[in-house]
Amino acid sequence: TASILQDRFGRRHDYLRISVTDKCNLSCVYCMPEEGMEFEPEEKLMSDDEIVEVVTVAARMGIRKLRITGGEPLVRKNLDRLISRLTAIPGIEDTALTTNGMFLAPKAEKLKAAGLTRINISLDSMRADRFRFITRGGDVRKVLAALKASIQVGFDPIKINVVLMKGINDDEIDDFLALTLNSKLTVRFIEYMPIGHESKDWKSQYLPLSTVLERCQALGMSYQPINEVYGNGPSENYQIAGAQGSFGLIHPVSDHFCSNCNRLRLTADGMIKPCLYWNYETHVRSAIGQPELIERLFRETLALKPETHEMAKALANQERSHQPTVRRMSQI
Ligand code: GTP
Ligand code: 5AD
Ligand code: SF4
Repeated sequence: TASILQDRFGRRHDYLRISVTDKCNLSCVYCMPEEGMEFEPEEKLMSDDEIVEVVTVAARMGIRKLRITGGEPLVRKNLDRLISRLTAIPGIEDTALTTNGMFLAPKAEKLKAAGLTRINISLDSMRADRFRFITRGGDVRKVLAALKASIQVGFDPIKINVVLMKGINDDEIDDFLALTLNSKLTVRFIEYMPIGHESKDWKSQYLPLSTVLERCQALGMSYQPINEVYGNGPSENYQIAGAQGSFGLIHPVSDHFCSNCNRLRLTADGMIKPCLYWNYETHVRSAIGQPELIERLFRETLALKPETHEMAKALANQERSHQPTVRRMSQI
């Protein structure tokens, strides 16, 4: 019997975000520490068979949408094979990928053939030198090529993620808004979140997203809220008059969206994590081979899901860093 993953606050969960690796080929300044990170040894990571088994149970419990993330998911070998197995699981209706785009262009077609429907690409700057600085070595031309390949192959929608940082890329808001005029892309501006590491930079670089709407007004562009961007995300979407594409604001810090949160997370090392921000997690990998136990762990973990994260506290608490999660973004 199909059961619904409902938590004690009445939120229904039909969306599972799966991190397939903690490794990344880049090292973005807001995500990883300068000295680099120690990655999990191979044997700590879930195998394809294990991920498929967990998702099969989750789909029986009402999970309909998957998002593949990392680290950088395309660092994982034969990701297209895993995706074609996941998209074939009964109940799974939609499978998306979040990627930095560096390895995407040559793989786009295979991924589409594997059943991937949607794609989100991180692109924090369109200027080569600045992009290299933010990602600590990335090549923006590869990401732009990935964007082109994604359009050609027919992923829909295609979303671009821009983490906005004061004094780093906030002078590119206009360029990113302009990008939505003549292409069917959704550009999402994301507030810099205080996650996973003692970020002295976070305090000085955090920028609320009201800045984006103010820019629009200053440019004399009229915009309207829209609802039709497909996806169940936390993004609040707008369209500039006459534009083909749209833009979105993701503001976890200044205004959280926890009351309609429909997501659970599966980490690369096999933990179910009910909230991005808190440390609650359960080791579901230890239940491999026992579907009833996997199901029970999903329910028990969901019961721990808090009503909300408290990132705003980090803002109020400037003197001490407020860091409830010990994981970094790349590990979630
Ligand atoms: P779709 O709406 O399905 O396209 O996914 P998404 O926008 O959630 O996915 P993506 O991986 O592109 O994430 C974009 C940003 O959303 C991340 O950088 C986070 O800032 C934010 N985000 C995603 N999930 C959560 C969540 O559960 N909690 C919070 N606070 N932020 C989240
Ligand atoms: N704050 C906001 N967004 C972040 N991301 C990674 N770390 C942070 C952070 N500290 C973004 C990436 C990617 C998305 C999945 O998460 O840029 O687009
Ligand atoms: Fe890698 Fe994404 Fe983190 Fe950048 S934000 S270092 S691309 S995992």
